[in-house]
Amino acid sequence: MTESSTERVALPMTVPAPAVTPLPMPERVTIYEVGPRDGLQNEKAVVPVAVKAEMIERLLDAGLPIIEATSFVHPKWVPQLADAAELMGLLIDRIGDAARKMPVLVPNERGLDRALDLGLEHIAVFGSATETFAAKNLNRTYDSQFEMFEPTFARAKDAGMTIRGYLSMCFGDPWEGAVEIDAVVKAGLRLLDLGADELSLGDTIGVATAGHVQAMVAAFGAVGVGPDKIGMHFHDTYGQALANTVAALQVGITTFDASAGGLGGCPYAKSATGNLATEDLLWMLQGLGIESGVDLDKVVGTSVWMAEQLGKRPASAVTRALSGVS
Ligand code: HMG
Ligand code: MG
Repeated sequence: MTESSTERVALPMTVPAPAVTPLPMPERVTIYEVGPRDGLQNEKAVVPVAVKAEMIERLLDAGLPIIEATSFVHPKWVPQLADAAELMGLLIDRIGDAARKMPVLVPNERGLDRALDLGLEHIAVFGSATETFAAKNLNRTYDSQFEMFEPTFARAKDAGMTIRGYLSMCFGDPWEGAVEIDAVVKAGLRLLDLGADELSLGDTIGVATAGHVQAMVAAFGAVGVGPDKIGMHFHDTYGQALANTVAALQVGITTFDASAGGLGGCPYAKSATGNLATEDLLWMLQGLGIESGVDLDKVVGTSVWMAEQLGKRPASAVTRALSGVS
């Protein structure tokens, strides 16, 4: 399950950007905060549960409307988040329904049971657009990942939960190289057919470029999946995340995943580095006059505090500039 030296950096696809007439910028976007999950799953040290809870409460106080709190995956696969039940129990004691409304990552029925036991209302199931990453991240073939998801979706729907469907390696895979847009659309449709309420298209290793993003949204549009059904999940490995966000805004996307402080990565894809930093996204949105309801200063304060907890410098350029912490 650990990475071998065969992992290589994917070459981004050369994709002709579709001839788009940019849409007017939206007045408002939704930021889907993944720092406590995508960020902390990738830290070497296991962060104490009390620190995780404080991070989440600070992010809530900053106005983040959706905070993905943790993962109900196998604790041996991601020991950093082995305290998922304890964390959610602590949050429910402190903030009640606000905690029950936080989505959690779930790969299978066992994970779903753990989420249901706590009365949680939203799950995020994560699939792979490629064969190799399905094996590395889920211990399944490409096809058998969907077999694993099917009863998970069915039971979650019966329980009245909403389900986000993540897809990883949408813009390139470190083992397989370029990933065809049609393959991503096919995988996305399978998640929607199973009952996903929305998709989040993951640029897991951060190789996407602006034209590729617009071509991807156009390809989904061509099969009837509009931008209202799609969130974008950019990692910033190649420094393209903000440019990709503008490209996505121009074609109607209004949900963006981001991580406070730019923490993040995937333990099963070593070339994945941090997510688009929430502060960097907020700074850009402010400049564009786009509302998100999130307080930039509070997120910066949280990221500075979190960097101290982790003993590292904040990865977000905006946080370093605004706080003077370098
Ligand atoms: P497996 O070894 O094939 O599991 O792993 P299994 O189904 O064969 O079950 C084996 C044992 O594990 C059983 O116990 C199960 O009950 C137990 P036993 O009967 O032997 O005592 N088990 C569990 N225990 C607790 N919670 C569970 C669970 N499931 C099974 N949920 C599995 C398959 C999916 C579990 C494993 O591969 C796994 O946990 N993978 C998670 C990897 C992961 O979390 N990766 C990072 C998140 S994805 C990501 O970061 C990408 C994203 O950000 C988007 C992007 O950037 O692209 C979302
Ligand atoms: Mg990710």
